[in-house]
Amino acid sequence: MKLAERMDRLGTETAFEVLARARALEAQGKDIIHLEIGEPDFDTPRNVIDAGVRALQSGATHYTPTAGIEPLRAAIAEDQSRRKGIQVMPSNVVVTPGGKPIMFFLMLALLDEGDEVIYPDPGFPIYESMVSYLGAGRVPIGFIEVGDRFRWDVDSLVDQAGPRTKLLILNSPSNPIGCVLTDDDIERIADVARRYEIFVMADEIYSRILYDREFKSIAALPGMAERTCILDGFSKTYAMTGWRLGYGVMPEDLATQVARLATNATSCTATFTQLAGVEALTGPQDSVEEMVQEFRRRRDLVVDGLNRIEGLSCAVPDGAFYAFPNIQATGMGSRALADLLLYEANVAVLSGTSFGANGEGYLRISYANSYENLERALDRIKNALARIPVNS
Ligand SMILES: Cc1ncc(COP(=O)(O)O)c(C=O)c1O
Repeated sequence: MKLAERMDRLGTETAFEVLARARALEAQGKDIIHLEIGEPDFDTPRNVIDAGVRALQSGATHYTPTAGIEPLRAAIAEDQSRRKGIQVMPSNVVVTPGGKPIMFFLMLALLDEGDEVIYPDPGFPIYESMVSYLGAGRVPIGFIEVGDRFRWDVDSLVDQAGPRTKLLILNSPSNPIGCVLTDDDIERIADVARRYEIFVMADEIYSRILYDREFKSIAALPGMAERTCILDGFSKTYAMTGWRLGYGVMPEDLATQVARLATNATSCTATFTQLAGVEALTGPQDSVEEMVQEFRRRRDLVVDGLNRIEGLSCAVPDGAFYAFPNIQATGMGSRALADLLLYEANVAVLSGTSFGANGEGYLRISYANSYENLERALDRIKNALARIPVNS
């Protein structure tokens, strides 16, 4: 069979491939600690599960309007308006099966071949995959280490933006580096977006998993709501990855076009899932707060533990649930070290290069695992690294 040529340009998420290798080792009886997976290890809150079950039992088993049921679009509009300081109406919201389809639909709706897209590298791999698939020009933006924090290289972003730039992708807090854009970063980025009429996709899926700071959306800056699509969802905040529930918040005319694409692709998002989403947003929020507190405790353990291991140094992530240690002093490549840790230490982590070329020299460690398992993993990593000579 001859596939379409563009299939050669489609990327993927290596997390699933590493998970498959880790599971194969488990099938051979190995005790693997999973730090490769990007999903909360907590259960979906009970009240949300109950709402989903009630929905099914009361017959919510039919199609819904493509853009989502009114009560959910209204709850999302209210929640986003309050949290992000913008005015969102239900007509600005398109509900999708997870946040991921918003990336796909938005890029299909906006990009022609040759349009340039600025996106974070290291970044969520699907950004680059979609940009390449659609034949758009890739403009990856890297990061810098400032003290014990990562910052996006906003100078380079500002330099590279221009009349050819159609779309700018932001992800704050970031997967994989946990970095949060500062107020100054957001102002400078909004300036260039307005100057060159660039549309922004602000992936804010981790905006509630934030330590010691307030979240600020670029959409709240003057003139930005009309040129921004916020991507957000339930997977991370409410530990609902398997329910597949996310959404985009965007100008109404674009929402109509994104919904047309959704009609072609999915028809709608599962009905009982949407009703569970209404409960998630309007019910008690204690479980979110407890989860974030526990993630903060684990972040402190992991960052501190990694910094004590010779050959590693780790910046402090301000959000999400990933650490991104610098491994350059080990003298090993990222992929080789990730493989060594999987096969020798039975700790599954991802190579920084799974998130783009700028991830060379780093690993991504997800701390969505229990405190005890993280302690064991740190011991195993330390012992494995003690067996290889470290560059000084
Ligand atoms: C940065 C980022 N954006 C979006 C998503 C998509 O999440 P979902 O489709 O489960 O809502 C993820 C999931 O890992 C992510 O890390």
